[in-house]
Amino acid sequence: MTFKQLAEQKKLLEDRLRRYGVEGEESFYLLASEYLLRFGSDITNPPERIIERGRKAFDRISHDEDLLAFIASIISSDPTGENLPVWYQHFLGRRFREGSGKFFTPRPVACAMSALIPCIDDAVIMDPTCGGGTFLIEASKRWKHLQCRLVANDIEASLVDLAQVVLNLATPGNHQKSFLSSNIYDPESQFKAWYGRVDYILANPPFSLQIETIDTDSSLFNLGYRNSDALFLDVCFNLLRPDGRLICLLPHSIVANTEYQRLRLAVEESWNLLGIVGLPEGVFHLTASTTTRADIVILEKKRAKHSSKRTKSVFAYAPSVGIPLNSRMIGQETNYLSQIVDDPGLKKVLGLG
Ligand SMILES: C[S@@+](CC[C@H](N)C(=O)[O-])C[C@H]1O[C@@H](n2cnc3c(N)ncnc32)[C@H](O)[C@@H]1O
Repeated sequence: MTFKQLAEQKKLLEDRLRRYGVEGEESFYLLASEYLLRFGSDITNPPERIIERGRKAFDRISHDEDLLAFIASIISSDPTGENLPVWYQHFLGRRFREGSGKFFTPRPVACAMSALIPCIDDAVIMDPTCGGGTFLIEASKRWKHLQCRLVANDIEASLVDLAQVVLNLATPGNHQKSFLSSNIYDPESQFKAWYGRVDYILANPPFSLQIETIDTDSSLFNLGYRNSDALFLDVCFNLLRPDGRLICLLPHSIVANTEYQRLRLAVEESWNLLGIVGLPEGVFHLTASTTTRADIVILEKKRAKHSSKRTKSVFAYAPSVGIPLNSRMIGQETNYLSQIVDDPGLKKVLGLG
């Protein structure tokens, strides 16, 4: 389906649901539960909460056969739920975007980042701020027949629900899934239960939110850093096992600005820096109204502080990532990022076989 067709569908469905007083989050749950009923018959533990909330909205429109047929036609062309995050963003609009660091990573960027972790059997792969689950879906595509556990957490329960539907539809049964909804800076026991057990983290944390208190070990907080993106590094340190790997988007300022020099020195005491891939301005142009520049940072948790096992790192800059970077660019763009992650030299340094 083209972008224009999807935009027309969004407007039409929103108008027709509104006639029955079904709006916002309710509309999302209606659609999510219809996806599950249509394509989720082989899911072992169907998420009851989503179906129940969807049913309530469904009861209000159940007599309108035209509308039901329209919803069925929207869903039938999308068996893996690829468009559901777009619907989520549409229905939850302002609440989703404003001031909470919530936006989705463009799929080509998530795909490239997932290519930076070695596929090992039985891996635990986590996204602690999972949004719609894009990173875990991309990881699952790489793991194919190998076993793995995909762990999705987000502070926003409706996003965890979105991730739960999409991951259940888009990933095979041999990839086990766990879903949590915890604040990563004030973690609940279900979140802490993953400390030291995670092999790989793929993530795009909330950028530039002020964190006043943190209820988890954080040497960076003790150094005086208070921003959500910087402190995210300590959250991941707690989650990973020794030698575990973090592939994460961070604001370019953390990688480059003088004010973060002490942070970078502290990070290199506890992590091996495996690489940094700079991204162009405008990467989030389609998914958020921000021009913040971001870099992909690749870190490996050291077995012991100050140990220096590795000497090699990769540094690269991708001038394009396969999506438009501003409103003047249209159509399929080149994707230097995918060429970078395919580079044999990079693969050798990152142990990607
Ligand atoms: C930039 S979005 C990235 C979403 C998703 N990982 C992706 O890449 O598409 C950041 C996510 O962090 C979540 N978040 C913000 N603050 C959080 C917190 N304190 N604990 C857990 N998740 C949080 C937001 O709800 C949002 O989904």
